[in-house]
Amino acid sequence: MDRIASAAGFRSAASRRRGLAKAMGLLAGAAVLCATGVAMAEPTTGRPVFDQVSNMFQPVSVPAAKIRDLAFLVLAICGGIFVVVGGLIAYTLIRFRARPGDEHREPPQVYGSSNIEAAWTIVPVIIVVVLFLATARTINELELKEPPESALQVTVVGHRWWWEFQYPEYGIVTANELHVPASTPDAPRPTFLWLESVDVAHSFWVPRLAGKTDVIPNRRNTLWLETAQPGLYLGQCAEYCGTQHAHMLLRVYVHTPEDFARWVEEQKAPEAEVASVAAGRDLFQRTACINCHAASGTVADGTFGPSLSHLMSRETIGAGVAMNTPDNLRAWIRDPQTMKPGVRMPDMKLADHEVDAIVDYLVTLR
Ligand code: CUA
Repeated sequence: MDRIASAAGFRSAASRRRGLAKAMGLLAGAAVLCATGVAMAEPTTGRPVFDQVSNMFQPVSVPAAKIRDLAFLVLAICGGIFVVVGGLIAYTLIRFRARPGDEHREPPQVYGSSNIEAAWTIVPVIIVVVLFLATARTINELELKEPPESALQVTVVGHRWWWEFQYPEYGIVTANELHVPASTPDAPRPTFLWLESVDVAHSFWVPRLAGKTDVIPNRRNTLWLETAQPGLYLGQCAEYCGTQHAHMLLRVYVHTPEDFARWVEEQKAPEAEVASVAAGRDLFQRTACINCHAASGTVADGTFGPSLSHLMSRETIGAGVAMNTPDNLRAWIRDPQTMKPGVRMPDMKLADHEVDAIVDYLVTLR
């Protein structure tokens, strides 16, 4: 029988235990990753993009703090239930275990208890009502259908595999790096995001700023954040959206109101036309680049790929796959597929001197 069982592919108890241990290890690892929202990607070249872990237990924004508080309340209640139930089970197992001489005796037979039955019905109902009310209140506080009056509004568009950020108020379009103002007690300035997708379902998640919200085609979801703490906050697409889902990273820069105003002015300013890179600019405009990319001051107005206007004001390229350095730009243009396999940008088959000319032009876009 044993032989038949193993022949049929049944595993021994020992190997089942090893498999179980491995599965538990994987599960624990996955749980840690989910809890901390670790963005672990390292760029192909250049220094690591991420020098900090994005921890949802260290919120700096109102919605993220509310979600953390609710999570702790639920954890405390569930922990209490676990301790009570586990404690009663352990007590019963020890207190009423079989003792020598018990073999021929029947335990006392008890038929029902109205008090106990009422207790284990009413207490769970109260617990469920408390959890429901606390959750409903948090959802109600977080789900604003309309932006608050003082809010900065940004339209976020998910693409495979990068983020487009439109600031209709300022006529700015940028990519992958979202810049927002900090909110101060004197001048509250929340940021209200309209979330859209042009292709598949993505999910916008910056753990320290807000809960994750799906970004779905043919639908407009909303999300808001409000923080008093300037800094860089990392996030990433949190819904599997294809080959390069893991390289659909988010960087949110929270600026003081003055710094944010400066950033807006820089983004609105026309690009300086540098005479020495005219050859690169011409080549760029004569190449298929312009079908997918926009660049202010040129004929390029494509929307399939990220806008290249003020490209050098961004710290990363390829939605966080590498630091934005001339060397990385050169490697990217020579063949994007080596840096980000599957990316929608093809190898343009440019000669080395052509790549150099275009990079020389691109690094003037400040
Ligand atoms: Cu976009 Cu995953």
